[in-house]
Amino acid sequence: MFDFCGLNLDSRIFLAPLAGFSDAGFRAVCAAYGAGLTYTEMVSAAGLIYGNRGTSALLYTEPVCSPRAVQLFGRDPDIMSRAAGDELLRGFDIVDINMGCPVKKVFGNGDGSALMARPDLIEEIVRAVREGAERPVTVKLRAGIALGHPSVVECARAAVRAGAGAVTVHPRYREQMYAGQADHTLTAKVKSEVDVPVVANGDITDAMSYFSVRGLTHADAYMLGRGALGRPWIFGVLGKLDALSDEEIYAADGGVKREAAMYAEELTEKAKADFDAFDAVKRHVDVLMKILPCRTVANVMKLHLCHYAKNTPHAKAVRLAAARVNDVEDVFALAEEHLKKG
Ligand SMILES: Cc1cc2nc3c(=O)[nH]c(=O)nc-3n(C[C@H](O)[C@H](O)[C@H](O)COP(=O)(O)O)c2cc1C
Repeated sequence: MFDFCGLNLDSRIFLAPLAGFSDAGFRAVCAAYGAGLTYTEMVSAAGLIYGNRGTSALLYTEPVCSPRAVQLFGRDPDIMSRAAGDELLRGFDIVDINMGCPVKKVFGNGDGSALMARPDLIEEIVRAVREGAERPVTVKLRAGIALGHPSVVECARAAVRAGAGAVTVHPRYREQMYAGQADHTLTAKVKSEVDVPVVANGDITDAMSYFSVRGLTHADAYMLGRGALGRPWIFGVLGKLDALSDEEIYAADGGVKREAAMYAEELTEKAKADFDAFDAVKRHVDVLMKILPCRTVANVMKLHLCHYAKNTPHAKAVRLAAARVNDVEDVFALAEEHLKKG
């Protein structure tokens, strides 16, 4: 068991908030495969309090996702505070605040990564959200806005001053969007500067990248976004590797010991061989069917199907067939034909 913001977690490997992907179904699948904490995609605080119809489906959550975090975005402390206290959020244990979204529309409004230029406002927002949420509040930061000009340490300090219970660092600049490499020396810097848990995020996709980010940052938890798409089994693998001590993983020169690398390889091969993508799709769709109309479920699943099929011999066939999926029946038929084991 691991304590995070006063919650007991089974694993320090988390699923990142992913707009369009970390839907209730995918969160449930990842939790079932061992994600210690799952995040909703970012939800507009203003949309929530002004009753935007699309919001409630984003906020549905399955019992398997426990504990669970909801992510809000916005820049107005009062609106953020009211949204954090909204009834629709009552099932969530943590309220996370998006300070990283680089998308033009969001950034241009002063939301998401635009906050990385405004530590004073960060402080105000975190304070307000804490009051409204009455539960732990965390923030998810980028490196900064302009390439080579980090503001993450200053912003993390501001958030912690206002009572943030943890800080996630995705150390890319807004200017980089999702390109280039995450610079985890910045995550390490934040880790040495704040006394709350730091979650490292960015470019963790497999055992070796996990070992590398852990060795560099000594973070308190590790969060996967793109690396989890279609590969929920990765949470089980990294969860097991996370139980190894530093002495078991790292050689004196900082490299990864041969035994640790071999163990990682073994775990990965077994997890891949055991993974039944059809079962994952079924679980995923069953959850979505509780909250969305059939056609919407089919649409949501199109990209997920391609991810589940990635790196299998059926990847191309699934990509072509997924484009023609119109209904849930089509999703199951495709998954049965191409993704079922044995
Ligand atoms: C399609 C997509 C949607 C995303 N949506 C969100 C979001 O809603 N909130 C957020 O904080 N970050 C979001 N992110 C950023 C991820 O949470 C994560 O920080 C980033 O992808 C780096 O981690 P990774 O290398 O493990 O993917 C998104 C990223 C992608 C690719």
